[in-house]
Amino acid sequence: YHIVHLASEMAPVAKVGGLGDVVTGLGRALQKKHHRVEIIIPKYKTLDMSGIKNFKKLNKHFYSYFEGAEHENMVWTGVVEGLRVFFIDPLHPAEFFNRGGIYCEPDDFKRFTYFSRASLEFLLQFGKRPHLIHCHDWPVAVVAPLCKSIYSSAGLTSKLAFTCHNFEPQGKESMEALTSCGLQFQAPLHTDHFQDNISADRINVLKGGLVHSDFVTTVSPTYAKEVLTPEGGEGLHTTLRAMTKKFYGVVNGIDDTVWNPATDPHLEEHFSMDDLKGKEVLKNKLRLRLGLANLGIDAKRPLVCCVSRLVPQKGVHLLRSAIFHTLNRGGQFILQGTSQDPVIKKDFDELAQQFENHPHVRLVLRYEETLTHNIYGAADIFVIPSIFEPCGLTQKGVPSLRYLSNEIAGTQMYSMRYGTIPVVRKTGGLADSVFDVDQKHAVVEKRNGFTFSEPTEEALASALDRALLYYKEHPDWWKALVSKVMRIDMSWDAAPIDQYIKLYEHTVQEGHPPAS
Ligand code: ADP
Ligand code: GLC
Repeated sequence: YHIVHLASEMAPVAKVGGLGDVVTGLGRALQKKHHRVEIIIPKYKTLDMSGIKNFKKLNKHFYSYFEGAEHENMVWTGVVEGLRVFFIDPLHPAEFFNRGGIYCEPDDFKRFTYFSRASLEFLLQFGKRPHLIHCHDWPVAVVAPLCKSIYSSAGLTSKLAFTCHNFEPQGKESMEALTSCGLQFQAPLHTDHFQDNISADRINVLKGGLVHSDFVTTVSPTYAKEVLTPEGGEGLHTTLRAMTKKFYGVVNGIDDTVWNPATDPHLEEHFSMDDLKGKEVLKNKLRLRLGLANLGIDAKRPLVCCVSRLVPQKGVHLLRSAIFHTLNRGGQFILQGTSQDPVIKKDFDELAQQFENHPHVRLVLRYEETLTHNIYGAADIFVIPSIFEPCGLTQKGVPSLRYLSNEIAGTQMYSMRYGTIPVVRKTGGLADSVFDVDQKHAVVEKRNGFTFSEPTEEALASALDRALLYYKEHPDWWKALVSKVMRIDMSWDAAPIDQYIKLYEHTVQEGHPPAS
């Protein structure tokens, strides 16, 4: 099939979090299965050009509608991680993407609804007729309704898939803001398809996208259940309950050629499940690099880490307490994170200052891919105390428990892939992938980390204490656990890619998805 993905992120050239990883990883996994994949993203000023091959501008420009006028766009193309990508670059209003970062601009709603409409116009005018257009998250949620109401009659009859990576951001605005991209409220569109379930005077583009897509997925089975409840649905539970026939929880995979501790070019030292020496060396190199104590007895201190966006979703208050708790228990802590929220940012900036020259704690408050890989590789324990977590790639666990034979050793990643034991709150995708070592009723092969349920400092401390105790008092058992988690196959090929292909095939052939 010819499948076009539309998104606001794509790793590694335009990434903020896991969404970027999934767009690239899913695209590559589909391509490996011989589907024709193309990706469309905006041409941000901040694109990491080092990740794009054969970057060039297409000769043909095209016009797209916005706020009552036609606007001229340029298109650039290039190859990212082996995938053909088109970058939409508006000439007027040129400033939409030629400034700032990816999100957190005051006019994000305008920028992304513009991009959504322009992407469809690009497909139409450049003669592209994909079998399926797969959209990701609220920034491109108007694509399905626009396609069904305007573009299908013009010849773009592609089926529409939508993956919601996070139901918190929904794109809520005034009615006028929505009509700026040309949505006309007549059949098949109705205003109530877009009306926010909580504030009746607001429109909600995520809701419109869900309603008008042929099928919808979210990124883990547990999160798919949580969002059907009033507590977890962010106001959309009633909408989702009404569409359970086309709503699926498909856990994300991991791109196992990018994340491999035996070959990862970002790593200062390589290692594998059969030879963990490199992991110890890496740990000491990271301590040196960040100025942490690494000699004598300190070399035996467990290294606890976290890499995360610093947002309430990630349980920032618990993360803070995890740092102090680890320190009190004789461990070391490295936190890498970034925040756009002024209050959270100030809080963590102050904390970083407090620990500036501390021998056992370091906070690195910036985005840096190479450091991230070295942290995953060096850490003994990785903490994710999320309040909610749709999937959680940093922590990525077990889509299917398929243990690897030697010939395919070297295929899965992030913290577990890099032999780092997770301590997580049991929610969403984390609950689907991390099973407590002391959870007697779970199958032994599945038990791979430490979990806690209540979002409290005490609950986190108790799980962390158990991890630290096992690490210090049962080193051989710990080593076996490390090898075990590294053996789990978390790749797209382990299961998720076949689930997506099944959904695509059924929807394209039958016109609707299989019964969920
Ligand atoms: P989310 O998408 O909610 O942020 P995930 O766990 O799915 O959570 O994915 C987070 C991704 O972002 C991972 O690839 C992680 O390594 C990356 N990441 C988060 N913070 C940073 C940072 N400060 N520097 C580099 N990468 C980061
Ligand atoms: C979102 C979620 C995260 C998920 C990622 C990729 O950002 O917060 O849990 O892993 O998308 O699907």
